[in-house]
Amino acid sequence: MIPDRTIEPRPDFPWNVRRATPADLEAILAIQHGSPEAPAWSSPTWKQMLSPEQAGSLLRVCLVAEGDHPASRSRWVLGFCVACWAGEWSELESVATVVSARGRGVGRALCGQVMDWSRERGARVMELEVRASNRAAQALYRSLGFAEQGVRRRYYQDPIEDAVLMSVDLLTAATTRVLT
Ligand SMILES: CC(C)(COP(=O)(O)OP(=O)(O)OC[C@H]1O[C@@H](n2cnc3c(N)ncnc32)[C@H](O)[C@@H]1OP(=O)(O)O)[C@@H](O)C(=O)NCCC(=O)NCCS
Repeated sequence: MIPDRTIEPRPDFPWNVRRATPADLEAILAIQHGSPEAPAWSSPTWKQMLSPEQAGSLLRVCLVAEGDHPASRSRWVLGFCVACWAGEWSELESVATVVSARGRGVGRALCGQVMDWSRERGARVMELEVRASNRAAQALYRSLGFAEQGVRRRYYQDPIEDAVLMSVDLLTAATTRVLT
């Protein structure tokens, strides 16, 4: 069992995690554009995922982290994370943070929150795929308890690359408590 981890945003850089809404679409697309390692989903795909209406047995959650922009003091979306859940299984589908906000715990908090969301619904395992060259994301996932399960050869296009398959046992992984 990994001990619970409390994430405490720095006093000079406060932020919180909340559910994404359709109003976040532009900010999410901008972060995705600046994160070529993340899946390149189209605007219509995002619109569907951000819609409060969901049908079928696969449930999806989209979270964003937001803080105060240092220059304008207006609210600023710092990152997003998407996961889906069905029964005992769940998948972390995408996570990305604003380049200038990286290394401050935002990615870990977002992933930790979707892990908690899946666990609360009864998921026992969370899976994901990540580019073999994406060491930063793999380190993030390992810090949350994910372990490598195998490789899917030439899974990605543009450029062609292997996918590393990772999973975590949600029943033994730490829960993430975020202080905001
Ligand atoms: C991967 C990504 C989401 C990490 O976001 P972040 O907000 O910088 O992550 P955090 O600050 O929460 O870092 C958490 C842990 O991840 C690991 N990590 C993050 N960035 C890292 C880097 N550049 N190199 C090595 N490890 C890194 C570290 O273990 C870190 O813990 P530590 O700070 O205690 O050492 C971000 O780099 C990103 O958006 N990348 C582009 C999109 C992407 O690759 N998405 C994943 C697609 S599968």
